Amino acid sequence: MSDIIYMDNHATTPIAPEVLEAMMPYFTTHFGNASSTHPFGVKAADAVEKARYQVADLLGCSTEEVIFTSGATESDNLAIRGIAYTYREKGNHIITSTAEHHAILDTCHALAAEGFETTYLPVDKYGRVSPADVEAAITPQTILMSFMYANNEVGTINPIVDIAAVAAKHGVLFHSDAVQGIGQLPSDMETLGLNLASLTAHKIYGPKGIGALYVRRDSPKPHSLFYGGGQEAGIRPGTLNVAGIVGLGAACELSKKYMETGKSRVATLRDTLHQKLMENLDDIYLNGHPKQRLPGNLNLCFASVQSHAHLAGLKRVAVSTGSACDSESVKASHVLVAMGVPNELALTAVRFGLGRYNTAEEVNVVADEVIKVVNRLRALAPDW
Ligand SMILES: Cc1ncc(COP(=O)(O)O)c(C=O)c1O
Repeated sequence: MSDIIYMDNHATTPIAPEVLEAMMPYFTTHFGNASSTHPFGVKAADAVEKARYQVADLLGCSTEEVIFTSGATESDNLAIRGIAYTYREKGNHIITSTAEHHAILDTCHALAAEGFETTYLPVDKYGRVSPADVEAAITPQTILMSFMYANNEVGTINPIVDIAAVAAKHGVLFHSDAVQGIGQLPSDMETLGLNLASLTAHKIYGPKGIGALYVRRDSPKPHSLFYGGGQEAGIRPGTLNVAGIVGLGAACELSKKYMETGKSRVATLRDTLHQKLMENLDDIYLNGHPKQRLPGNLNLCFASVQSHAHLAGLKRVAVSTGSACDSESVKASHVLVAMGVPNELALTAVRFGLGRYNTAEEVNVVADEVIKVVNRLRALAPDW
């Protein structure tokens, strides 16, 4: 694997060595259950509270506003289904967009089957939701809206602050699947104006299977989806994943430290890759917003080159056709379709996700390999 260059950091990131180091003692000597009252438990509980502080520090919130979960899929479910159940008497309408992650879309589909009303707003050609559309969709029954901070496929950043102003004006709760933005983009919850936000450690150089839901202090609490012990204020019962939580905390602290310098370095590498590909290949098209996007995201369509053949041809590069969850599917990405990319072109999309550990040398190798593979496949393509 060591000779394969990893450029799929929107799917997941490697664990930072500092994060792994922080976690290790909680698998071995400090293995206690954080609910136990003896010294093993106290050691674990102290570590959990330190991590809660590290998460809160990145989010600019207080520790009581952080609920640990198993990751963003669970946080998204807890936010949307939990608020829907808490607010069942108040209203039954939820607004989201067609470009959300399946953790949001499928949760909303499930609620629709239970009788809730759901509105899926369209996005513009860059993948952005319009605050005016949001305002027009609000009805007296609207209890919640959910829009992602940054898109996991095309990297486009939504106008979260403007949408939050609309939500606040109408007294509607605003949740964001903020997985791809937190730790890379401004992450202060108060400034963003969010009531609830989902995050996950494995997108910010932490371990898989651990995440959190931010719930603003003055927001109603989501109804628990599980029955069990009283952990996490009863909202998310279950024995705490202490090592994972320590990893999430350490990953948040590191992200805060590297946010500004890391962001510009990664964006420069991404722009260099884009430039090299554009100089050497015709008919490649950028998906997503040219400026308002994640620093490491480069999602391109390569006309006449099917993305699955493209990926199969890349022997030294790990990239993706779009959403990792859809990588077995030959269907065009629902995000590109929502943005109005023609189906035939959407099937040629490749997502490069650059991250903290990529180097300028790797960018050169990836560019050379992509150019070679695209030229070879185009030479065989009947429509080229
Ligand atoms: C935008 C977005 N939401 C949700 C998820 C799911 O996160 P997790 O793997 O922590 O459940 C992902 C990751 O694939 C994502 O990119």
